[in-house]
Amino acid sequence: MKIFCTGASGYIGGSVAAHLIAAGHHVTGLVRSRDKADAVRARGIEPVLGTLDDGKILAQAAQAADVVVNAASADHKGAVVALLDALAGSGKPFIHTSGSSIVGTRARGERSDAVFDEDTPITPSPARAARVALNEFILSHRDKGCRPVIVCPSLIYGLGLGANADSVQVPLLIKLAKKRGNAAHAGPGENVWSNVHIDDLMTLYALAIEKAPAGGFYYAENGESSMREACEAINRMLGFAGPPAAMSMTEAAGEWGEGTTEDTMASNSRVRAKRARELGWKPNARGLIEEIEQGCYRG
Ligand SMILES: NC(=O)c1ccc[n+]([C@@H]2O[C@H](COP(=O)([O-])OP(=O)(O)OC[C@H]3O[C@@H](n4cnc5c(N)ncnc54)[C@H](OP(=O)(O)O)[C@@H]3O)[C@@H](O)[C@H]2O)c1
Repeated sequence: MKIFCTGASGYIGGSVAAHLIAAGHHVTGLVRSRDKADAVRARGIEPVLGTLDDGKILAQAAQAADVVVNAASADHKGAVVALLDALAGSGKPFIHTSGSSIVGTRARGERSDAVFDEDTPITPSPARAARVALNEFILSHRDKGCRPVIVCPSLIYGLGLGANADSVQVPLLIKLAKKRGNAAHAGPGENVWSNVHIDDLMTLYALAIEKAPAGGFYYAENGESSMREACEAINRMLGFAGPPAAMSMTEAAGEWGEGTTEDTMASNSRVRAKRARELGWKPNARGLIEEIEQGCYRG
């Protein structure tokens, strides 16, 4: 099949593209610079030069493909509209990437007991209301002649296969730990995130392309840890004795910025990938703590 992928130079998009190429598919990928075009070409992706704001380029690339994977942004409505319009009536799959911070609560590093599967209603925070509305908009196209599907990953970890091989939260924690000589979380670090290995996430995209029905929504997770547990593993990996530090929210915002601190590092996002497992997804990569201690983050 011919697959058009946005975010082709990124962590998720580049990894999904590599997985699909290895399975024998032809992938065209949106890139916004000549440098990135060279980088993705070296990975076997045929570059399409443009940005998420170039509706005509997106439409042409989508119409030339059998499948569209939108992995550049969970939030860019203009690109989604252009891609869905281009696919209307085609019956083709449109696999959009969202993110499980849609269920997140600003908890200042405290634990929340709220756990969400695909049937649990969400009341999004103001920071994520537009993302939830975009998801609903996408799924409302289930009756418009294409096959819209949303994959909603939790915290992703592990080495990706894209030009950008790194995710967000774990690398931020490791970078800060190296700078301070001790890992540090925001507030008490009791806040919990579900997580998924990038290798397992790639297989979920492939499965979604193959057999997810129109209107399917899939959380991606295979375990959960508190930020403090992740920090403790980082200290063990780096050989730092003693417990991780608890930063004030102001101190954490000074390191990571206010939005990232509140909505990503000090929040809870606990989801269960019920539907993905029903679809036949069998995640089997190593868990987050093991990956930190013994995997790609060492050295
Ligand atoms: N990583 C996670 O743990 C995670 C979890 C859940 C959801 N998500 C969501 O998934 C999406 C992708 O995440 P990621 O981790 O793969 O990020 P990433 O590594 O930064 O990749 C983003 C990709 O999209 C491209 N891109 C961004 N804005 C663009 C624009 N305006 N026009 C064209 N291309 C554009 C980037 O191009 P350049 O290479 O030129 O920058 C890059 O290829 C994000 O919305 C993120 O919030 C991520």
